[in-house]
Amino acid sequence: MKLEIDINRLCAELDSLAGFSDAPAPAVTRVVFSEQDRAARRYVKSLCAAAGLQVREDAVGNTFARWPGAEPELAAIATGSHIDAIPHAGRYDGTVGVLGGLEAIRAIQRSGVRPRRSIELVIFSAEEPTRFGIGCFGSRLLAGILDPASLRDKEGRTLDEWRATAGFHGDVTAVRLPGGHYSAFVELHIEQGPMLEREGVPLGVVTAIAAPASLRMWIEGEGGHAGAVLMPDRHDAFCAAAEIVLAVEAAARSTGAVDTVGTVGVCDVFPSAVNSIPSRVRLEVDVRDIDLPRRDGVLAKIEQACADVASRRSVKIRTEVVNQDAPAQCDARVVEALARAADAHGMAYRRMVSRAYHDTLFLSRIAPSAMLFIPCKGGISHRPDEYASPDAIAAGALVLAEALAELSLLNLIL
Ligand code: GLV
Ligand code: MN
Ligand code: MN
Repeated sequence: MKLEIDINRLCAELDSLAGFSDAPAPAVTRVVFSEQDRAARRYVKSLCAAAGLQVREDAVGNTFARWPGAEPELAAIATGSHIDAIPHAGRYDGTVGVLGGLEAIRAIQRSGVRPRRSIELVIFSAEEPTRFGIGCFGSRLLAGILDPASLRDKEGRTLDEWRATAGFHGDVTAVRLPGGHYSAFVELHIEQGPMLEREGVPLGVVTAIAAPASLRMWIEGEGGHAGAVLMPDRHDAFCAAAEIVLAVEAAARSTGAVDTVGTVGVCDVFPSAVNSIPSRVRLEVDVRDIDLPRRDGVLAKIEQACADVASRRSVKIRTEVVNQDAPAQCDARVVEALARAADAHGMAYRRMVSRAYHDTLFLSRIAPSAMLFIPCKGGISHRPDEYASPDAIAAGALVLAEALAELSLLNLIL
């Protein structure tokens, strides 16, 4: 089998996709169900159709592009990622797995190999939490572990309102995929960390994905005139929030483990006027670790800090757990298939964990799954200067193609 990646075409497609953005280049902002997201979906679907893939969309916009195998009744092999992008992101997060996955399929087509199992490209709806405050909502629904009725954006608009805007209708409960639907799933992604570049290793074979949790907090104090209310009389919600932000940092650092991280990435202050004491603050908190009890220990410390701040400052603090997920272990057989594929092309790789979350975290609950990482410059991601070189992308797509081709012929899995 002679597999060749058309890297010029793939890079040109990545450039075109980056053009669908609500932020000026080089930044990319593409929030799920926005006009730019819808236009980007049309673009990617047109590429899939041009490759002769059969395209299907579900009720929440997860998109499936299938190349039927010689034995289409067998469970398919799947690959894919996401095309939504957080505000002021870069152009490679998710998109490398979607367009690289498509190019991997086209490379197998050009090689003349006809897969035994169908190969399906999946474009997951909203891997990023920007719209609904929860990451991986499309893949969570595919795995059947999210109550869609609970989803709201910051303004209170429901998932049903948003998906109708984007033209997605139908029964959300039918989105769930039955166990055995996929024989294996592989996601290609930029590392979003520094290890591969630092060690000069072109590929990472992911063996586990860290456990993410996120919280929403509402802090209610007392507003008033910034000149007139005396300092001892204040119950400033933002000062209370500031203490909590630092408590999140301290709790994450307290484990001493490099894998524990805590971030407060959203802070809305009300009424947000320079001469008015903040009366309400809303925070969104993200905590992760590869070790579940340690991650939950950090959450407990944050909860304790909230109780202390609330009583000391006489403010009310309400906390909602948005998600508190377990880590995922990748499937050893898919990991080995990726390792063999890298060996077949003489490419070095290291086994590693993913500290970022990915749709694979949830696909792994319904299919044997693993991930393939490529280096990105400086480990930078979720920033406009995110960068993966054409060579790195080509290597990832090539090894992905090799693995998909092999998995499609195998009887090993399901
Ligand atoms: C995914 O975008 C993450 O935040 O890990
Ligand atoms: Mn991301
Ligand atoms: Mn991603």
